[in-house]
Amino acid sequence: MADHTAASVAVVVASNLPRRSADPRDPAFFSDPYRWYTEIHASGSTTFYWEDYGFWCVAGFDDVNAVLRDKRLGRAPGLPEHTARTANWWETERWSLLAIDPPEHTQLRGLVNRAFLSRRIEQLRPRIGELADDLIDRFEADREVDVLPRYAAPLPAIVIAEMIGLPADMAPQLLSWSNSMVKMYMFGVDEAVEAEADRAAREFVAYLTDVLAERRSEPQADLLTHMLDAEIDGERLSEPEVIATTILLLNAGHEATVHTTGNAVATILRSGLDPTELFAGDEQAEATVEECLRFDAPLHLFTRYALDDVELGNGVRLARGEQIGVMLGAANRDPRRFERPDEFDPWRTDGGNVSFGAGIHFCIGAPLARLELSTSLRRLFERLPAMRLAGEPEYRDIFHFHGLDAVDVSW
Ligand code: HEM
Repeated sequence: MADHTAASVAVVVASNLPRRSADPRDPAFFSDPYRWYTEIHASGSTTFYWEDYGFWCVAGFDDVNAVLRDKRLGRAPGLPEHTARTANWWETERWSLLAIDPPEHTQLRGLVNRAFLSRRIEQLRPRIGELADDLIDRFEADREVDVLPRYAAPLPAIVIAEMIGLPADMAPQLLSWSNSMVKMYMFGVDEAVEAEADRAAREFVAYLTDVLAERRSEPQADLLTHMLDAEIDGERLSEPEVIATTILLLNAGHEATVHTTGNAVATILRSGLDPTELFAGDEQAEATVEECLRFDAPLHLFTRYALDDVELGNGVRLARGEQIGVMLGAANRDPRRFERPDEFDPWRTDGGNVSFGAGIHFCIGAPLARLELSTSLRRLFERLPAMRLAGEPEYRDIFHFHGLDAVDVSW
């Protein structure tokens, strides 16, 4: 009886929650989703049904945290349907850490996580600084550059390729495969995108299969060898698991970092603040990076699926298999959590953000990304102090991967 009463109350609350509409492919929207987020926060109803996607969403900081930590919600039911057209792509996704739930997730994550602990990552500091300098050397004399392809993209791609044990000169090819594969997560995927993602997956897998054969005969001090040797409860990872994890690390290991770098350069240059002050010392450089991550996050929307019929604390009831959207970019601008949320303030004392997620899928690469960003942004602004924007950068048409098309600067 008590249960029944609680459920009835929840239905009443849920039916009072608003339905909202915003087209994720509309340039006015994806160029500045923050205007909409401000309206949502101001309305006081930060849980709503997003008509265009057709699912419930949470935009409040506390709700986003709660949904990401809710064990009744998972990722596995979200794996797209297996079709003949996307068979190769699907094979790489079905073993992806991001697409599985406990207990499989716990085991695989434990194994990969060891390589990404902060103290291990810290050892990469000199190499990241050296890479940053090398890349800047190549364009410094030109007095202008698009930061994205010449700096922001190669740096994290080379770092993660080297950690895994792949040659740095493969980085452009890895980037190209990865870009084609992640397009499958765009809103409104068509057949051309599917065909391209599947071709990229097929080539990527063929390449890694050859490299793994080499590693089996000649082990190295790299992540590939670590994954081949590692045992979980006496069992080794299968080849598809090693390949899927490698692809996920390569994809996740650069895409978001590239766009955070681009967004951060644009934010800092637009702010009119003095970069020398923003990067004065390690601690301030780290605080500046955190504020860049909060202010213009590269990933705005993730989803979770109800593993059973579920009733959330905010009144939403989800049927088993139903999806809920988690709005990271909006949570980072929640006025109930941050003072002056729409102001870029690298000195704020109420920092923190959900740009790396929360709960069991919290970003494995967060320590690496933070080190890459603080090192690379600091080097860039130190070496090119007269840098300014050459034109207003525009956001790409992929709302949930919130990044710029180009970041043209001159000095
Ligand atoms: C600024 C850069 C980055 C941002 C903003 C970011 C953000 C995120 C977020 C939000 C998630 C959780 C997704 C979810 O809950 O559904 C995630 C997961 C993940 N990230 Fe990152 N990431 C970044 C860089 C990296 C890097 C450098 C790596 C390199 C290894 C990486 C590897 C991963 C992996 C493997 C997962 C899946 C973890 C799991 O499912 O248990 N990320 N990331």
